[in-house]
Amino acid sequence: MQKENIYILGIESSCDDTSAAVLCNDKILSNVVADQKIHAEYGGVVPELASRAHQQNIVPVVHQAIEKAGINKSQLNAIAFTRGPGLMGSLLVGTSFAKSLAYGLDIPLIDVNHMQGHILAHFIDENDYKKPPFPFLAMTISGGHTQIVKVNNYFEMEVIGETIDDAVGEAYDKSGKVLGLGYPAGPEIDRRAQLGNPRAYKFTKPKVEGLNFSFSGLKTAILYFVQREVKANPNFVEENLNDICASIQYTIIGILMDKLKRAVKQTGIQHIAIGGGVSANSGIRKALKDAETKHGWTSYIPKFEYTTDNAAMIAIVGYLKYLEKDFSDFDVMATARLKI
Ligand code: KG4
Ligand code: ZN
Repeated sequence: MQKENIYILGIESSCDDTSAAVLCNDKILSNVVADQKIHAEYGGVVPELASRAHQQNIVPVVHQAIEKAGINKSQLNAIAFTRGPGLMGSLLVGTSFAKSLAYGLDIPLIDVNHMQGHILAHFIDENDYKKPPFPFLAMTISGGHTQIVKVNNYFEMEVIGETIDDAVGEAYDKSGKVLGLGYPAGPEIDRRAQLGNPRAYKFTKPKVEGLNFSFSGLKTAILYFVQREVKANPNFVEENLNDICASIQYTIIGILMDKLKRAVKQTGIQHIAIGGGVSANSGIRKALKDAETKHGWTSYIPKFEYTTDNAAMIAIVGYLKYLEKDFSDFDVMATARLKI
């Protein structure tokens, strides 16, 4: 007997990307992302503007996702949406929209944890993509989070390390601000890092117990370093930008890899997956590839479109929960601080 096709609409609106995706079983039919350029002017996400932009984007983005998927909305089996963690005003837009549409279509509603989405994005079926076996370690690195998670199965996850202050993406973005780069600065620092000397300047790594991270000290060290050098040479930043970026990147990747090595030692698990915006970074991708030959690890690196926030990762969690009939009540609330 042929398996029935399950169609899931995923909706993501936790921060500054409005996204909708349609999945047929574990395969992506469409994944539409509208990012919000408005925040660049302010050097960071402005929550009130984000929620207003989500309100403008949500209808056209969902419409486009369904149209691109080549299905009719009456074919949808369920709607999955990001419940949290994220910005409350942003989450509310996706949550209310998902509820109304699911209610109107009389189909189940499925709430999804954004961080589980980043991790389970590895289970989207792509022809040439090898999925991680359980248990594996997932390092989620983004503008809002930095965690190492032991993933025992789809829904049993254990945070074994996390940041005690800033997220790694924030370290990129705030260092970029000090250097006069636009927001978000991560991609630009990464691009320049590949043209510079990673050992030109030395920044000390934070000393944090166990598997936890800290990035606020590094941010301050970079600020003081730049202020000191600019005093001596006002053109210091322009003249050495690629080397500064390469040195920052080298330090950050060193911090992430040190903790991963510790986590592998502690758990004996050598299958390592990454997720979140910073997993687009060329330095971490290369370091993980190198660790395959150097330490015998197997690394799982998502396609670029599944690194930054997107609804495909929400839809895949929706599909996995649909198979378990793990549906939400319609009084489910958006939750800004939702734990894995
Ligand atoms: O996952 P994401 O889209 O949103 C959050 O949930 O935060 O991550 C955005 C973060 C930003 O801090 C951005 O600077 C960073 O990911 N990012 C990068 C790169 N691409 C995006 N950081 C370093 N290198 C990159 N190539
Ligand atoms: Zn994210």
